[in-house]
Amino acid sequence: MCRRDPLAMKSALVTGASSGIGREFVFALAKNVDLIYVVARRAERLQELQQQVEVPCVPLCFDLSLPSSIEKLGEKLKNDGADLSVLVNCAGFAKLGPFGQAGNLAMIDLNVRALVAVTELAVPFMHEGASIVQVASTAAFQPLPGMNVYAASKVFVLSYARALSRELAERGICVTALCPGWTKTEFLDIAQQGADKNTVHKMPFMTTPEFVVKCAMRAIKKRRGLCVPGLLNKAHFFFSKIIPSGTIMDIWELMR
Ligand SMILES: NC(=O)c1ccc[n+]([C@@H]2O[C@H](COP(=O)([O-])OP(=O)(O)OC[C@H]3O[C@@H](n4cnc5c(N)ncnc54)[C@H](OP(=O)(O)O)[C@@H]3O)[C@@H](O)[C@H]2O)c1
Repeated sequence: MCRRDPLAMKSALVTGASSGIGREFVFALAKNVDLIYVVARRAERLQELQQQVEVPCVPLCFDLSLPSSIEKLGEKLKNDGADLSVLVNCAGFAKLGPFGQAGNLAMIDLNVRALVAVTELAVPFMHEGASIVQVASTAAFQPLPGMNVYAASKVFVLSYARALSRELAERGICVTALCPGWTKTEFLDIAQQGADKNTVHKMPFMTTPEFVVKCAMRAIKKRRGLCVPGLLNKAHFFFSKIIPSGTIMDIWELMR
């Protein structure tokens, strides 16, 4: 039996909402919820989004790599008595570069630490039937030299999401690990900033955030634990299970 108050306002929380995949999620979710909390650092982007979305958006300008931001986010949900139907943990970034490049620890703080912290603070505000989308990547399917910390952070996200989906199943909360491949967003510009040409890879067959989110919304509706958008990425997932990771790393290193 669903214990949810039928008059309660359904809301969503989307991190990384100011651009790319997260922003696209906000537009898609606006058709399904009454209110969306949108989190990112760039206030002007969030305010712009607020004007463009047909349901009320609450802009929360937080740097999620800071523990103080996580605390403030928790307080906001508590003060509002939030009833979350959907959490999308999308904030993340990558850095391409040689061993020991700058930004590796900041990547762990955002891609791993903040994702776990936001999940743990959001779950108590979720009800039976709610959904969590943890944005991982095809980078989670094998180690990636030149992107070592990023790929490892996404292995964490994928593993965490899959285990969490079992843990939260008895509460009726569905957890989907979303594994997009290369997608046309600001992500690659940020990843390549400061990288030399030896670490920049060819990114063939890039998809769009619209396509990624369309696949993810379908996965949410079907309550699937894993969503790998696109045939090529599905083939990548399949072959990563049967081809030794050393061979996949060799292929990756040839793609320069
Ligand atoms: N694009 C791809 O090829 C691709 C492929 C696989 C997986 N992914 C994953 O998809 C997710 C979204 O990436 P995207 O492609 O949409 O990239 P994007 O356009 O660069 O979006 C990244 C989002 O994260 C937010 N963000 C970055 N640092 C933050 C911080 N410290 N605190 C709060 N928010 C922060 C950014 O907002 P502000 O800068 O305003 O803070 C932005 O909204 C990431 O987790 C990424 O790893 C991307």
